[in-house]
Amino acid sequence: MTQDNLYHHEHGGEPERRFGLDGKRVLDFSVNIGPLSPPFPDKPLSAFDLHRYPSIDGRGVAAFYRDRFDLEDGCVLPVNGASEGIYLVPRALGIRKAVLFTPSFFDYGRACRIAGAEVSFLGLEESEGFALPGVETIAAKIRDADAMFAANPNNPTGTQFPREMFLELARRFPDKWFVMDEAFIQYADDFPGASLMREVGSLKNVIVIHSLTKFYALPGLRLGAVLAHPGTLGILLRYKEPWTVNAVAERVAGELLRCGDYEKDVRELIASERTKILGRMETVPGIAVRGHGANFFLARWNAGSDLDRLLEYLIERNLYVRDCRNFPGLEDNFFRFSIRKPEENDYLLDQFQQLSRRIGAMTE
Ligand SMILES: Cc1ncc(COP(=O)(O)O)c(C=O)c1O
Repeated sequence: MTQDNLYHHEHGGEPERRFGLDGKRVLDFSVNIGPLSPPFPDKPLSAFDLHRYPSIDGRGVAAFYRDRFDLEDGCVLPVNGASEGIYLVPRALGIRKAVLFTPSFFDYGRACRIAGAEVSFLGLEESEGFALPGVETIAAKIRDADAMFAANPNNPTGTQFPREMFLELARRFPDKWFVMDEAFIQYADDFPGASLMREVGSLKNVIVIHSLTKFYALPGLRLGAVLAHPGTLGILLRYKEPWTVNAVAERVAGELLRCGDYEKDVRELIASERTKILGRMETVPGIAVRGHGANFFLARWNAGSDLDRLLEYLIERNLYVRDCRNFPGLEDNFFRFSIRKPEENDYLLDQFQQLSRRIGAMTE
């Protein structure tokens, strides 16, 4: 990566920009957004108090976190999507040296560098199934750093970070910050058990960043929270801009409290589609699934041609997946696709199968 690339922001989606689609609509499997929309009452936007300021500190969102996840009010800092939290934390805590995992979500490194921190990486290797290194390897790496950023599950490899391992590290190094991005944690089979949300009250150096974007399919709204000990949130608050949570987000957060059935439906749909997709991918010779977690799969195009061949074939059929070749370690034809509605997933799987067979037949 060049120095410029370390700071330059490239979003994986935006197929219109990348492929010049000329208004053509595609089924976008590149964004990891939940397949169903929450069942909100059909209210016009004016009903959401657009003419008034929201609360200065996103109180409506804090109330959602407190009630839905059984958290203490003083441990919740509402933000404008997890992204705001990811950028706030290194800046406010004055992080100088951060340990990150790679490949992973780009913004942890960008946020740390913008805050003036030096960044070093622990690699998740394809040859090891992108498994997490052992606890002693991680401990040795963070000895001369002051913070570690991780995600559970990791995007795009799906690697899980066991809660107990994270807590062991946090307890062993009480003078270092341990930041966990749980943007996708609600998809975990063992949620809320897998989450660190309820630990932050007792461990001052653990910070959880959560998003309501993914699971509730609300990327346009920008909703999330930083969860941490009240003393730690006090430091973050010295740096956080006011008014970053808007009135619509506050109102919608209240509606989310009534979405219990929706949450159950999403979790069941993801679990059953995941099993189906894994089974069907075994019958696609040109594509190998290399990782999966939450609502997405990491896969590698192995059919002997460049990944562009697959991407172009899919675009012609109104399908778009995430080209992962700009992640270090995934240059060799990796891509990611999310789980959508069953019939949409079937359509994507059919296209995988057809192209893979066609190319196989040509090379035989
Ligand atoms: C792992 C991960 N964390 C955080 C975010 C940011 O989420 P939000 O939309 O809440 O800012 C994303 C978005 O793609 C993500 O993939």
